[in-house]
Amino acid sequence: MLQVRGERLELLYMLAISEGQLRTAGGGILYDTSRLRKPGAELFDVEHWRAEGSLQEIAGGRASIAVVGSGEQRWVLRHYRRGGLIARISRDRYFWLGEARTRSFAEWRLLAELRRRGLPVPAPVAARYVRGALTYTADLITEYLPDCRTLADAITGAQLPAEQWSIVGKTIAAFHREGVHHADLNAHNILIEHAVAPRVYLLDFDRGRIEARGSWEQDVLARLRRSLEKTKAQRSAVAFTAEQWAWLMAGYE
Ligand SMILES: Nc1ncnc2c1ncn2[C@@H]1O[C@H](COP(=O)(O)OP(=O)(O)O)[C@@H](O)[C@H]1O
Ligand SMILES: [Mg+2]
Repeated sequence: MLQVRGERLELLYMLAISEGQLRTAGGGILYDTSRLRKPGAELFDVEHWRAEGSLQEIAGGRASIAVVGSGEQRWVLRHYRRGGLIARISRDRYFWLGEARTRSFAEWRLLAELRRRGLPVPAPVAARYVRGALTYTADLITEYLPDCRTLADAITGAQLPAEQWSIVGKTIAAFHREGVHHADLNAHNILIEHAVAPRVYLLDFDRGRIEARGSWEQDVLARLRRSLEKTKAQRSAVAFTAEQWAWLMAGYE
């Protein structure tokens, strides 16, 4: 595994994602050939990692996330799950519309493109789908970002300094300049490094896309603001008011 130290090396590293593809019984795997030699289905199986003793934790809103591996080599495993009413019909099955349109392949490729453009997202490691008759299930593995917390957690029981709100705004602006439309930018899909001048990452690019700039940018900001308000309503001691939002917007503009 390449050790990454310093911005220059990291930039080279970000450019190094190369796409490989494998067919499996009833499905397919997309992966970064610079990180994996011959990925098997077991990589996506939480029980495999548990048996190896390298299952770190399972968390996430819909309990679909596992952190696996150890040391420098930690990954986040996500099984795609449906939300909303349709989840009553099927928890994790999606209609098959072709391989390129599977949730996992689409997100893997978008993340790879965002890394190529130098945007702060976790590196995509591997994606897969498993077919049913008219449907499929999907999984994604990304690189675990260490020493981070979500924006929601960063403002719970603590104040996020104005400069850090501003970095959040700046980061969102960098994505919008590239036409990157995040379909669900909320306070849990933003990670902030534990540092004085932290790096800020955006996560969870399911259904995200790159498109022409437009009024959607304001919708994304409005959605994030609603999410921050919701976090405040749900939790106690959340430091979020119009003042904080103005700090974020100052960075955005
Ligand atoms: N690459 C990553 N590094 C560190 N933490 C992550 C990473 N990906 C996800 N997480 C954590 O897991 C949570 C859920 O992940 P996410 O991809 O947003 O899935 P979902 O919202 O569908 O549950 C995030 O809010 C974040 O706390
Ligand atoms: Mg999320």
